[in-house]
Amino acid sequence: MVVETFPDGEIAVRVEEEVSGQDVVVLQTIAREPNNDLMELFIIVDALKRADVKTINAVLPYFGYCRADRKDRPGVAISAKLVANLLTVAGIDRLVTVDLHASQMQGFFDIPVDNLQGHKLLLDIFRKSQGNDCVVVAPNVGSIHVARTYAAALGAGFAVIDRLRMDQQNECHSTLIGDVKGKKVLLADDICSTGVTLASAAKACHEKGAKQVFGAVTHGLFVGEAVSLLESSPLEKLWITNSIPSTEQLRGSEWINTISIARLIANAIRNA
Ligand code: R5P
Repeated sequence: MVVETFPDGEIAVRVEEEVSGQDVVVLQTIAREPNNDLMELFIIVDALKRADVKTINAVLPYFGYCRADRKDRPGVAISAKLVANLLTVAGIDRLVTVDLHASQMQGFFDIPVDNLQGHKLLLDIFRKSQGNDCVVVAPNVGSIHVARTYAAALGAGFAVIDRLRMDQQNECHSTLIGDVKGKKVLLADDICSTGVTLASAAKACHEKGAKQVFGAVTHGLFVGEAVSLLESSPLEKLWITNSIPSTEQLRGSEWINTISIARLIANAIRNA
């Protein structure tokens, strides 16, 4: 298909292949320019519908807006639910995604959702490289569920960081609940955006006597100065997946290791 942007910023899509009666898979990122990426996806889905395809499978390795999945204070939107509604209205028949911020988000849809487990790949690679002898630490309360999954799979100890952050930009204050003294620590989370959560968690673990601090995060957004912030933290190595397109900064980094989820997604498409 041809995707163009008009001078006024509007997006135009033209499907040039014969797709009538076919099962179609649309792979889209909703990460670097989420608003544009989403609008582009809606228009692509509409163009495919009008080209009379049989089914549309949307593959979104990272589900943008996933963190806005509840009304946690007055006056806010539940944007993740809105995106789910818009995807359904646009006409997708099935969603394939990876490590949703909260697996309950599947309930936002009345169509099938495959929430693939990208963190299992990170777990395997960590186990191969560092073994099982570690303490898994949730870098904030919202990461407890994912961190517990890592701890259970590794048979490792568990600790949590109570993070106090005033708004999205502010530096946060972290308090470690648990024991990491003399231990190898794995910080496990689903998303790294500004890097503030991971960097301050790494610092808190280091200050409490952790021997080494590693990290595993499915979705590496790394906005702004995230990479240099993490580089100057006690984090020794970080494993991420390629659910989000890489940046120059990331490609130059030797201590951030990217694991491919291509096979995971290919299998999900094949089994549809
Ligand atoms: C929050 O609930 C997520 O699990 C991550 O901890 C958060 O998105 C990380 O954000 P940042 O890298 O900006 O601190």
